[in-house]
Amino acid sequence: MRRTLIAGNWKMNGSLAANSALLAELKAGMAGQSCDVLVCAPAVYLAQCAESLAGSGISWGAQDVSMHAAGAYTGEISATMLNDFACKYVILGHSERRAYHHESNELVAQKTLRALAAGILPIVCVGETLEQRELGQTEAVVSAQLQAVLNVLDDAALAKIVVAYEPVWAIGTGKTATPQMAQDVHAVLRAQLAVRSDEVAQKVQILYGGSMKPENARELLAMVDIDGGLIGGAALKSVDFLAIINAV
Ligand code: G3H
Repeated sequence: MRRTLIAGNWKMNGSLAANSALLAELKAGMAGQSCDVLVCAPAVYLAQCAESLAGSGISWGAQDVSMHAAGAYTGEISATMLNDFACKYVILGHSERRAYHHESNELVAQKTLRALAAGILPIVCVGETLEQRELGQTEAVVSAQLQAVLNVLDDAALAKIVVAYEPVWAIGTGKTATPQMAQDVHAVLRAQLAVRSDEVAQKVQILYGGSMKPENARELLAMVDIDGGLIGGAALKSVDFLAIINAV
């Protein structure tokens, strides 16, 4: 059985003071939940997360990593630097990075390799735009995004990744994919993994992201191939994030 992972992506939000309050509320709200819980903070706040969350049962992670090991890459953050802050996961290929920072499928695959080499679990994001969905290209788009990662990983490495299906049109818009719409894409992604290895496909967690909130989390998480959530806006309010965690 796959464990459910509820991951918050804070995106470019927060401050030392706001994070301190949010983390304290989250810790206070943890009461033996059955799912895994993760917060992915801006890199400058990873030390704060490490200090606050150590021993709490809540994991922390980053929102991106460089494809390079080290060197003259101004502004970049390496996987070994993330290790210094004990990051368990890193989000890769989020649609905002693909759209605003021109990250290609191949770049995301290289970053996936870099994270895994450092022992950090990659959360590889895939998802179609509204235009692509309307043109009937959803399956082709997400499959190409996943395939680039499949192409560079062996089965053992593949078993360590998490996939997040995030329809771009549902991110931060309040529009959520219906549970069935999401399940259909998750099933496509799992079938694609199964072409490589059925065993691996049964292990890989596939999260849904895109306006997941307390009101829709239970229904989404009940779908057979939805193994958790990657949550943006609702992860910034402890009451909402905890309600999603408690919906598992
Ligand atoms: O990484 C999280 C997703 O982009 C979802 O964001 O929950 O604000 O729609 P959202």
